[in-house]
Amino acid sequence: MTDRVTPAPAARPPHTAGEGRSQASITLTINGTRKRLPVEHAESLLDVLRRQSYWSVKRGCETGDCGVCTVLLDGQPIHSCMRLAVEADGHVVTTVEGLGQEGGLHPIQRAFVETGAIQCGYCTPAQILTAKALLDGNANPSDAEVREALSGVLCRCTGYARSVEAVQRAAAMLRGEAVSLMTVLEEILPDDAARVELPEAFYRRGGDRAPLPPLIFSPPNLEKTSVVGKPQVKVDAPKLARGRPVFTDDFRLDGMLYGALLTSSHAHARIKRIDASPARALPGVHAVLTWQDLPRVKYASGGQSHPQPPPYDQVCLDNKVRHVGDRVAVVAAETPELARQALRLIEVEYEVLPAVLDPDEAMRDGAPVIHDEPDTEGIYDAQHNIVHHIEAEAGNVAAALASAQHVFEGEYHTPKRQQAHLEPHVCITYWDEDDRLVIRTSTQVPFHIRRMVAPLIGLPVKRIRVIKPRLGGGFGNKQEMILEDLCAHLTLATRRPVRMEYTRQQEFTSSRSRHPNHMRYKIGVTDGKVIAAELYLIGDTGAYGTHGLTVQMVGGFKGLTLYNASNSRFVCDVVYTNTPPAGAFRGYGAMQCQFGIEVLMEEIAGQLGLDVVEFKRANWLKIGEPMYLAKALGEGREGFEQSLQSSGLDQCVAIGLQATDFYAKRRAYRQQNGPVRRGIGMAVMMHGSGIAGLDMAAATLKMNDDGSFNLLVGATDLGTGSDTILAQMAAEVLGIPVDDLIVYSSDTDFTPFDKGAYASSTTYISGGAVRKAALKIRDQIRAHAALMLKIDRPADLILKDRKVVAPDGRFVTLAEVTLNSLHQQNQHQIAATESHMSYESPPPLAAQFAEVAVDTETGQVTVERLLMVVDCGRAINPLTAAGQVEGGMAQALGFAHCEEMLYDRDGQAINPRFGPYRIYTSNEMPLMDVIFVQTDEPSGPFGAKSVAEIPMDGVAPALASAIHDATGVWIRELPYAPERVWRALRCTKAARPSGE
Ligand code: FES
Repeated sequence: MTDRVTPAPAARPPHTAGEGRSQASITLTINGTRKRLPVEHAESLLDVLRRQSYWSVKRGCETGDCGVCTVLLDGQPIHSCMRLAVEADGHVVTTVEGLGQEGGLHPIQRAFVETGAIQCGYCTPAQILTAKALLDGNANPSDAEVREALSGVLCRCTGYARSVEAVQRAAAMLRGEAVSLMTVLEEILPDDAARVELPEAFYRRGGDRAPLPPLIFSPPNLEKTSVVGKPQVKVDAPKLARGRPVFTDDFRLDGMLYGALLTSSHAHARIKRIDASPARALPGVHAVLTWQDLPRVKYASGGQSHPQPPPYDQVCLDNKVRHVGDRVAVVAAETPELARQALRLIEVEYEVLPAVLDPDEAMRDGAPVIHDEPDTEGIYDAQHNIVHHIEAEAGNVAAALASAQHVFEGEYHTPKRQQAHLEPHVCITYWDEDDRLVIRTSTQVPFHIRRMVAPLIGLPVKRIRVIKPRLGGGFGNKQEMILEDLCAHLTLATRRPVRMEYTRQQEFTSSRSRHPNHMRYKIGVTDGKVIAAELYLIGDTGAYGTHGLTVQMVGGFKGLTLYNASNSRFVCDVVYTNTPPAGAFRGYGAMQCQFGIEVLMEEIAGQLGLDVVEFKRANWLKIGEPMYLAKALGEGREGFEQSLQSSGLDQCVAIGLQATDFYAKRRAYRQQNGPVRRGIGMAVMMHGSGIAGLDMAAATLKMNDDGSFNLLVGATDLGTGSDTILAQMAAEVLGIPVDDLIVYSSDTDFTPFDKGAYASSTTYISGGAVRKAALKIRDQIRAHAALMLKIDRPADLILKDRKVVAPDGRFVTLAEVTLNSLHQQNQHQIAATESHMSYESPPPLAAQFAEVAVDTETGQVTVERLLMVVDCGRAINPLTAAGQVEGGMAQALGFAHCEEMLYDRDGQAINPRFGPYRIYTSNEMPLMDVIFVQTDEPSGPFGAKSVAEIPMDGVAPALASAIHDATGVWIRELPYAPERVWRALRCTKAARPSGE
């Protein structure tokens, strides 16, 4: 990827009260209908279209960086946030609502649905419109032209491969060509994976850049299934392709007020005086709340199971601020402009305190004390800003290191980075007709939010209902209570519905991020075996503790369990700094620590003259081995003894080596000359499947008159496709197509409990609950069908093709069963609710390969290909699983290559915008290929483990490995931005000379 100069935002004047008040009248032809509309002169086209209920037009940044607000103006894609409505006067506007004929999907919409190009769907209408503009002018575009066209719309979920495929598929349909059904390539895994036959395309010889279908290898004895394991269109894809109003903000209530948040401009300060009276006096302002107006109830904002890990170091509004972007006050007003104007009228006098931004400095004697308040309990050493100190050991590390033939050490740094989901945090709160508070919110954890918000607002849980609509991505950042408490307080204060939404800048300064880590590994090796491993980690949690304890425990566990030395020791300090809080982020500590261990293992192999793959293979975790730190490092508490029950890691590595010609390329690259050097790297990794002994989920199935079923789950599909895979599991048991399941997730009033979407738990834990509920309801159906068929042994009945079939061939349909049970015999509702938890968290395992070209004169690293070979147990839906892997690799590539939240010495964010923050666009992406090696995990539903997070773990070390292969230099700090790489190449004499 190349450095991109981001144009300054805002040709559009600032949208402020007073300035935006002058009215105009414009005429737009929207989706073929001519409309005369009153607008304000300073209003954007985006605001006007959403006010007119064109909900497909999304709000993502309002600086022209993300493109989710794209519409067609006279057939050309434009960012509607950057265009004044008055400038569009007299023009023709097309939104996704205008596509499709007679209620059906337009071919482009169909192609996006069928290829799996839709995950959260927040970017989808913009991508579809962009594709339409392209195909209207070019019926047969090249892949490069498609990537170039889509580059104006960011997607944080998919990695763009399936979007490119969708546009090419749509082009073929529009040209009148036949297109095949969506496909995956399936092969039987031979005994020796090194001899596997790969389709030629996976060797990527000859420069073909077309996205390949996912390739799946299965062991010959894997049980045959008919719905599970098959590619399945996401159940929510059609409505997302249509741009239907499914997200939190696609919803308006009469009398709704607009909330806004005043944030701190100082990194560390006490609020000496705050006067909200001028703001309260502004007509149209209905509430202004400061710390003086709210009870001081301590809490932790991380959405985790009860009891939440300490410390409870936050209150809704405080008299001290601890980072730029910290909460100061909230207002509710009749319009967003009035709310923003009211914020400017709040007078705040600060006593500015010294700030500390670096965790090493924060731990020193005399450093500013960030949490000096007397009412926070559970901080390990507040005077040194150490919120947690963790120590865990298996065996005797000191003795083992003392006895080792070789001891190696390595230090590694990883950056702070933003989740950057395209839908911001947004929340709407209101009283319902029974005086219960409804919180409609973009959250991954609706049940935790209900439990956590209750004490803060002084309502019992029974008077709160949390509704989770579709989510426009979350990646962990919506596993936090960010806005819900403040929005609820405003509704309590005004008795009116209130909407609050973060600006994109607030997402960077006032939400959560990935913990920057500093890691020191020490490894003892004897006869090629790792006999001892030690990790000291400093984790920077920012201004609040939230996920600080659990992220680092997961990181220590995964970082030391991948090679699972029987003598392992983890020591960690989690440290406060005056920076925005870190929190949950897909990868959750494991990706930082696996970067360190993977790089060090390859460094060791090099120093010992060992083949890196063989050295890793000799040491990685194997089936039957106990995971030595599993008990000591649970999440936030003691865990449970666990051992590895299934692994396809050997096969993943063997197949990846073959698909990339790894050794041949490594040999060839030794002979390179010239400034641009190529390299290939690999890494292995593990993750988990839920939190052992803690995560719990429930599912309800209810049978309807026509033999269809309602599947009610508290699980939270944030774009991952979990609603679909849960439906596939139920369909498999019940002998029905997925179409016969109406999936609803999630609403605390109507769906059963689920801990929420995090920790890679949904397939494994929520799937376990769905499978159990389906088995239970199957037995009820069998019992009733046996009554109808007059059969003694219900267990002999088989459910298939919407029927219950007896051994003698007689059958009743499911519709007949349900009508009979509701109206005729033994009348009752066929329904079941089941719960599931597990004391195991079986690790998915994988091999990641990366190929790069490094310009040694500029430090520019161009990533040319990423290949991931994954054992996620059985892939319940290979299409969505592949989407998870591609999207995860794309996010991980940003972590490794370009994304970093930067601050000046006063703690002010330097790059709190999508443009300067640098997210990969479609035309910058490397080739990405996915291969699955299925295993049959005995504790998982249908043999499944998880797949959502493991793609985050391996790209950074594989890139490090590839850059070293190209240059001979190890770079132990991320990201690999050109300047860092250039400096490392200049500073390291060990850079490989040409022709070595
Ligand atoms: Fe593109 Fe989620 S599917 S942002």
